[in-house]
Amino acid sequence: MSLTSSSLVAAADLAIAAIQGAKDLEELKAVRIEHIGDRSDLAKANQSLATLPKEDRAEFGKIIGVERARVNTVYAAREVELEIERDRRILEEERVDVTLPGRRTSLGGLHPLTILTNEISDLFLGMGYQVEEGPELESEWLNFDALNMPVDHPARTMQDTFFVEPLTARLVLRTHTSPVQVRTMLRQAPPIYIICPGRTYRADELDATHTPVFGQVEGLVVDRGITMADLKGTLDHFAQAMFGPEVKTRLRPSFFPFTEPSAEVDFFFQGRWIEWGGCGMVNPKVLHAAGIDTQEFSGFAFGMGLERTLMVRHGISDMHDIVEGDLRFTRQFGTGLV
Ligand code: DAH
Repeated sequence: MSLTSSSLVAAADLAIAAIQGAKDLEELKAVRIEHIGDRSDLAKANQSLATLPKEDRAEFGKIIGVERARVNTVYAAREVELEIERDRRILEEERVDVTLPGRRTSLGGLHPLTILTNEISDLFLGMGYQVEEGPELESEWLNFDALNMPVDHPARTMQDTFFVEPLTARLVLRTHTSPVQVRTMLRQAPPIYIICPGRTYRADELDATHTPVFGQVEGLVVDRGITMADLKGTLDHFAQAMFGPEVKTRLRPSFFPFTEPSAEVDFFFQGRWIEWGGCGMVNPKVLHAAGIDTQEFSGFAFGMGLERTLMVRHGISDMHDIVEGDLRFTRQFGTGLV
């Protein structure tokens, strides 16, 4: 660039026009490099002052100083303007709408069957019972033989059992919670007051009233002087806690190999008798198998289905609702958490 006062003014005007045309800080930075930086015309003019004859230096030095100051002032003002604009844009873009509805994270809850199981456990714990557990993969001996169901016993074929390989291991998926009776009696001397809620298995198809995996609750009492009146009173109390204080129970003669006498227990609910489970006085053969003196001790036992209890109590007509885990169903029971 030729070093004349008009060319210096023109360079400064060009720089100012570019600064004012910058639309954001990014563009402004590029303008700075081109028009203000070391390689800009004004900077180069400043550097070439040294090459001027001495007498011209002061005059051109002054002009360059004035023009550079003019450019810098406009630059500083534009920079502040663009910064304000940027801040305003960011505030706008990142604005939080405090009126938007919040996002809910829902807490997990217990399955209705678990809630029921806990309720039953609480009830019996309150009567001094203990809650026992047993394995779901059970020895055939405990699931059948010890309960007076020898291999050729017809009752054994009554149960559609899942036998587990290798068959020589003689393991089954327990078909009922009754083996926990035997486990408890083998471990613990009377008096025994236990319930055992748990999962049981039978080779059924899933339909509106059946499921191959289902829950039962077993009860067992062994003590001195236990009679069927104790059984009936306990079942009444249990039924009333489940279905309401008005509920009555009745025992119908039946047969189970592990009880003698045996009965089906029904309860009267909403105008009809409903079958609930099995019960009876523990068969002396079972007490013997567990090493209990039948001269001194007697006992009662009962076993009911958990799904059935839940279905009747809540008017659930399809087993699928219980097993499928649809939250629209389970939520109706609350979380069960306290
Ligand atoms: N275990 C029987 C079943 O699964 C139910 C049962 C009946 C249990 C009578 C008992 C009982 O304890 O005394 O069908």
